[in-house]
Amino acid sequence: MKLLRYLLTALFLFTSALFVCAQGIKWFEVEPGIWKAVIGKPESFDLLKASGAIAAHAGLADMDKATFPLAESDITAKIIDGKTYLHFPLSRAEQLYGFGLNFQTVQQRGKILTLHVDNYDGKDNGRTHAPTPFYISSKGYGVFVNSARYIQVYAGTAVRTDSKNPPVLQDRNTDDNWSARPYADGVDLLVPAEGVEVFVLGGPTMLDAVRRYNLLSGGGCLPPRWGLGFTQRVQRLSTAADVLKEADAFEEKGYPLDFIGLEPGWQSKSYPCTFEWDPGRFADPSAFVRDMLKRNVRLNLWTNPYISPEASIAKAIAGYTGSHSVWVGAVADITIPKARDIFFGELSKNKIDIGISGFKIDEVDGGDEYLWPDVATFPSGHSAEQMRQTYGLMMQRYVTEQYRRRNQRTFGLVRASNGGGSSFPFVIYNDYYNHRDFITALTNSGFAGVLWTPEVRDSKNAEEWLRRFQSNIFSPMAMINAWASGTKPWTFPEVAAQVKAMAGLRMQMMPYWYSEFAKYHFKGIPPFRSMVLEDGFGNHEQSKNINDANLEANPYGKLITREVKDQYMAGEYLLVAPMFTGETSRKVILPKGNWYDFYTGKYAGNGEVIEVTPGLDKIPVYVKDGGIIPLMPAMLHAPKAGQKVDIEIRYYGNRPGHYLLYDDDGETFDYEKGAYSFREIKVEFKEGKIKGTISAPAKGKPNTVGKVTFKKVG
Ligand code: GAL
Repeated sequence: MKLLRYLLTALFLFTSALFVCAQGIKWFEVEPGIWKAVIGKPESFDLLKASGAIAAHAGLADMDKATFPLAESDITAKIIDGKTYLHFPLSRAEQLYGFGLNFQTVQQRGKILTLHVDNYDGKDNGRTHAPTPFYISSKGYGVFVNSARYIQVYAGTAVRTDSKNPPVLQDRNTDDNWSARPYADGVDLLVPAEGVEVFVLGGPTMLDAVRRYNLLSGGGCLPPRWGLGFTQRVQRLSTAADVLKEADAFEEKGYPLDFIGLEPGWQSKSYPCTFEWDPGRFADPSAFVRDMLKRNVRLNLWTNPYISPEASIAKAIAGYTGSHSVWVGAVADITIPKARDIFFGELSKNKIDIGISGFKIDEVDGGDEYLWPDVATFPSGHSAEQMRQTYGLMMQRYVTEQYRRRNQRTFGLVRASNGGGSSFPFVIYNDYYNHRDFITALTNSGFAGVLWTPEVRDSKNAEEWLRRFQSNIFSPMAMINAWASGTKPWTFPEVAAQVKAMAGLRMQMMPYWYSEFAKYHFKGIPPFRSMVLEDGFGNHEQSKNINDANLEANPYGKLITREVKDQYMAGEYLLVAPMFTGETSRKVILPKGNWYDFYTGKYAGNGEVIEVTPGLDKIPVYVKDGGIIPLMPAMLHAPKAGQKVDIEIRYYGNRPGHYLLYDDDGETFDYEKGAYSFREIKVEFKEGKIKGTISAPAKGKPNTVGKVTFKKVG
């Protein structure tokens, strides 16, 4: 009997595996340059369902045509034992990028990962805040696996015995190049479900594949203008009076400030949360918000989603929560509409309703020791695993929806995201505080369809404070998170003036940042991205693998990879190369083409490695030949909706310059209905003279551009 059952199961598994192979995988071009295959029976809940992403068709249609980038017969899928086995080809010289928000590595070939939403714990092993199941190949295509499961990835590490391109046999006794990780000709993914939707994103360049992924996810987010100013998160347990005083101090001292974040303490109880104002610290929340808005400073509220038994919504939501608690708080099953009505209704009441501009959604990532366990169940029937992979994504979606309903943009923070989340106006942050790794995360964020802030919290000394601040200014959210430290921009008097100058520069650059975010939204181009996505950087994309011959320390000859992870592109024209504490000089790799110093306009190099000694006051930044950086005056607050500001167009180098300056009302979603324009800027520099033009404002569209002047830098 047992044997028969065994034979039948074996037969079933064999035929179902065969089924997928024999049929081959059918790829359909679902959007221009994006092909989808449905393998087996995909689950009804996946990343794109959780995010509700609707592909930005217009942006995709606007891109050049692409052809299917792989040999279809080289892609295989099998379903065995309730799991989907995916295999994608990989050639010898190919490098891989992506697989989520990694902190220490950019190149992913040779990795074994489990893509799992988690608080980053110091290892690039797939457990991270945004483990987006999307990878990009140096051959110029991408693959996205639309599953809300923990996915196992063998990124060029699974060596098949039937491979047509097997690794070369080597003898460890005599071959110095023997490696514990021989070459493997594929990317293998194991999805614990009986089917999955897979997307192949065409190039021809890596950036094209990234753009298609972001556009598939709805296009990148477009923050309100004020979101790109400066934000301070005040110390926990601050009172309304403390916060007003802090805002006044910024104004008096002349430091820009667009929004203040309240950390734990605004609620009557936190961990778990009541979502209600603490009457002692905030006696009259509406009056407080009004007072802040009078100062042109918005408010953002920290919260985690775990519901205190003492919260006023506790009773109403009780039927819609998971089987396990987090810090004794209930976890709402926000896949259920009724649970959402209650939960997001509470976030609206007395919060969004009275003018709160956004939220910091904390602790939706993990760690395992406090989050709901994988044995938890949820009333909707979604598994704990699916909820873990998507909770951050869904929180972003439904918070954004609250604001969208009011035709008001938001810009907030979140600690977890996943595939399909590019359009959400949230920036990821964490508690890990390694400046170098923060920069690597910034470069990787552009592969993962997320934004990341290398936030500044505290520092051992003035040098570290300034160095961290400088790179934070060239990031999606310029922020001090003083929730524990109570630091202010001027905390280190030795560098207070430099910090102020950097914060002023952030404000001046608002037209640039805003235009670059518009390109993220409409064209899918990540505003902050890795150097390998830049033309002319190719020479440096190969890793130099060094076989550490120390047998004691490295018995399996693990390869040590050298890669570029400490410099990145910021917008169309800028290359940023942060300095780290203790450094007085650093190497910068300039891609091919002429590059110029951002501050002086002086020629810096072309396709070469330069050594720079910028001094403490400066973060090295370089501008591409013909680069255009539109600036506004260093105002203390972002311009209000419709407010006109003068623009100084800075031009670098000699090549004819071209730029698309984005404009809209800066605060509403009307741009989605066409109330925006890209104004074309052209600059030429001939015989020592600069000649610049800007196209006329589009009729009937918001026009916030005042006087325009042109300046050649250098
Ligand atoms: C942490 C978060 C910090 C801060 C703190 C408040 O989880 O990462 O930024 O908000 O909670 O308790």
